Amino acid sequence: MKVSKWFFVIMIVSFLKPQISFGVSEISQEFLKFAKKSEVFDWMVGVRRKIHENPELGYQEFETSKVIREELDKLGISYKHPIAVTGVVGFLGSGEPPFVALRADMDALSIQEMVEWKHKSKVPGKMHACGHDGHVTMLLGAAKILKSHSHLLKGTVVLVFQPAEEGGGGAKQVVDSGSLENVKAIFGLHVFPQPPLGQVFSKSGAILAGSGVFEAVITGKGGHAAIPHHSIDPILAASNVVVSLQHLVSRETDPLDSQVVTVAKFHGGGAFNVIPDSVTIGGTFRAFSKQSFMQLKQRIEEVIVGQASVHRCNASVTFGSKDKPFFPATINHEGLHKFFQEIAGDVLGVDNVKEMLPLTGAEDFSFYQEIIPGDFSCKVPWSNSGFGETSTC
Ligand SMILES: *[C@@H]1O[C@H](CO)[C@@H](O)[C@H](O)[C@H]1NC(C)=O
Repeated sequence: MKVSKWFFVIMIVSFLKPQISFGVSEISQEFLKFAKKSEVFDWMVGVRRKIHENPELGYQEFETSKVIREELDKLGISYKHPIAVTGVVGFLGSGEPPFVALRADMDALSIQEMVEWKHKSKVPGKMHACGHDGHVTMLLGAAKILKSHSHLLKGTVVLVFQPAEEGGGGAKQVVDSGSLENVKAIFGLHVFPQPPLGQVFSKSGAILAGSGVFEAVITGKGGHAAIPHHSIDPILAASNVVVSLQHLVSRETDPLDSQVVTVAKFHGGGAFNVIPDSVTIGGTFRAFSKQSFMQLKQRIEEVIVGQASVHRCNASVTFGSKDKPFFPATINHEGLHKFFQEIAGDVLGVDNVKEMLPLTGAEDFSFYQEIIPGDFSCKVPWSNSGFGETSTC
């Protein structure tokens, strides 16, 4: 918990710096002091635990959204709701440009919390395993600090509480709602459990991969397993498809252009002596540029269809869906990234601001960056719950 106050202080100092006439260090120190007050710190601990105990999945964050709106009401911050089903977009400051957005995601995951502690998830099979409970709390903390210093603001801070980051592309829905039209820059972050407390990691340019999902149905002809020559075996065909897909990265891709193809799903058959009619496979693919991503997509389809036909099977391939859109790569704006580094160094000390290697995880923050310059960074651990590997993280 200790660390969370730094994060939102960095976020808000980032915003204030160009707008004010006196030293950033002074502001940083003032905000840090303010954040340590029990009315801020203990309040944040309470909010985070409340959200942690009541995790909600993407586009179902109704109670979380209510908690956010209640807190914004108490702070006297106006907001728009609903944005993208459960989302809340708050505004504070002068109401004039520049508009700068800070974003937090709200959704939890379909994972059972295994850690026994006082504030464990009360919902079986759901938990905040990816720390979004912390993100919401940090943005509320930033709102509280900014509100108490609103006389310093010469612009408008847009607080974006977005639904459904975990594969649902909530960010895209927020963008499509048009509520960020005037926004000139956007900052986001993700908590991260591995590094020591008090450190932040980020980089200029591509930081997280673009991500897509695929599914294929490979159809043969079922029959008795003892007389395979009367069947067309989709299990063997699908097995060869899986192996051939591995060649896309190992043989067709520049080793210096990182990409991933993973088959994570393989369903077929139900008896030890029956060859099934069909097999369904599915997986994810990742790349850091749009060109590599589209090339991979095309070749995945060709390999599945071609390899299935070698084994006399037919294959149909589908990519993404409305609730699982392609996520673009997360690419940080160079200027905003430098700016973030400077401010973070001022708050945390320059030694605690680290250069990050790109990760093949994905983030729907990238949808904002398609229309607004943005900077995304990763912060040190925070959640008691650990880090959940998910469909998109
Ligand atoms: C594959 O599709 C073709 C054309 O529709 C069809 O004639 C053939 O029977 C199909 N094969 C299998 C194994 O389903």
